[in-house]
Amino acid sequence: MTFRKLKENVYSVGAIDWDRTIFDELIPLPDGTSYNSYLVKGSQKIALIDTVDPKKSDELFENLEDLGINRIDYVISNHAEQDHSGTIPMVLNKFPEAKVITNKKCKNLEKDLLAISDEKFITVEDGETLSLGDKTLKFIFTPWVHWPETMSTYLMEDKIMFTCDFFGSHIASSDLFVDNESKAIEDAKRYYAEIMMPFRAVIRSDLKKVKGFDVDFIAPSHGQVYNHPKLIMDAYEDWISDKVRDKVVIIYASMHGSTKKIVEHLTGSLMKKGVKVKPFNVITADVGEIAMALVDAATVVVASPTVLIGLHPKVAYVVSFANAIKPKVKFMSFVGSYGWGGKAIEQLKGLTPHLSAEIIEPVLIKGFPRTEDFNSLDELAQKISIKHKECEFVKK
Ligand code: FEO
Repeated sequence: MTFRKLKENVYSVGAIDWDRTIFDELIPLPDGTSYNSYLVKGSQKIALIDTVDPKKSDELFENLEDLGINRIDYVISNHAEQDHSGTIPMVLNKFPEAKVITNKKCKNLEKDLLAISDEKFITVEDGETLSLGDKTLKFIFTPWVHWPETMSTYLMEDKIMFTCDFFGSHIASSDLFVDNESKAIEDAKRYYAEIMMPFRAVIRSDLKKVKGFDVDFIAPSHGQVYNHPKLIMDAYEDWISDKVRDKVVIIYASMHGSTKKIVEHLTGSLMKKGVKVKPFNVITADVGEIAMALVDAATVVVASPTVLIGLHPKVAYVVSFANAIKPKVKFMSFVGSYGWGGKAIEQLKGLTPHLSAEIIEPVLIKGFPRTEDFNSLDELAQKISIKHKECEFVKK
């Protein structure tokens, strides 16, 4: 029995995925994840808010059975992605009288993705309410967290905002509520970096909208419930702002040690100037850690040997990923070694159309770095430090 109570007649009935190690076949999950589904029992109607990944559907049904649920009137679908919607067809099969309550965009996606027939849906508009008797649900459109159809559902009497992916985090825990605030924010940051960051401009209006409600709990569909909503709202406010930190992320690979030596020297030189720096060797690094570091870095430096006349392919992969998640970096540079020439810089520019960063002059070194090359790296560190000091967006 793993259902858990949030408030009177409001339960968490989803599934905990302790063993999941990767999401979207992309981001490692060091702490597993959960697919949260919530049951709201009104005096007249019963609503299920979101479902679970289909491979965990048994857990959802067991929880409903343990709660003695033999009727569901509404399935509220906040998001069409299958880790939340994939079990809806099974719920409709078990409870044929149930209707899916969602917005028009979500309905159309679910008709395509899940083959749910048109008559099973009731569509709602932004701000519309649905009475369950003594409990009332209000639907708040919060698009692009992280698909176009995403919405949140507010349980008015209990002041709970069910936000689906918005404010989510990948953590499997037996604690329903956040029990370790710094860990919760680390997990939420990894989640934000991977899928929310590209939409930070739109998220500003979503966040403003949610802040307009009196909220006791934020109940996302991954991770723990926030019983101090300000914690996660303040974190999002910071992440989506234009402000960055006096910090450099170095993305690198090295084949014979030249690029590693370059990175070591540049790292030390930046540290001497008091600039935070985090080098990531792409061969062993967790891309989730790289994404998190990019959330608030002022500068990214790409460092690569020349391979097949361009960037090391594994560096190119991480650079492509960084471009896709659109971090708010203000400056970018390149350092690397070559034997007889190459097109690494042209390739780097071609791979980063979404990064609106000012380019700081690269340092290209022939072979293993020598004294004059170390001087050039010191000059690059100096330029970065000055740029950070002069930039209005770098937190002082
Ligand atoms: Fe957790 Fe966008 O699905």
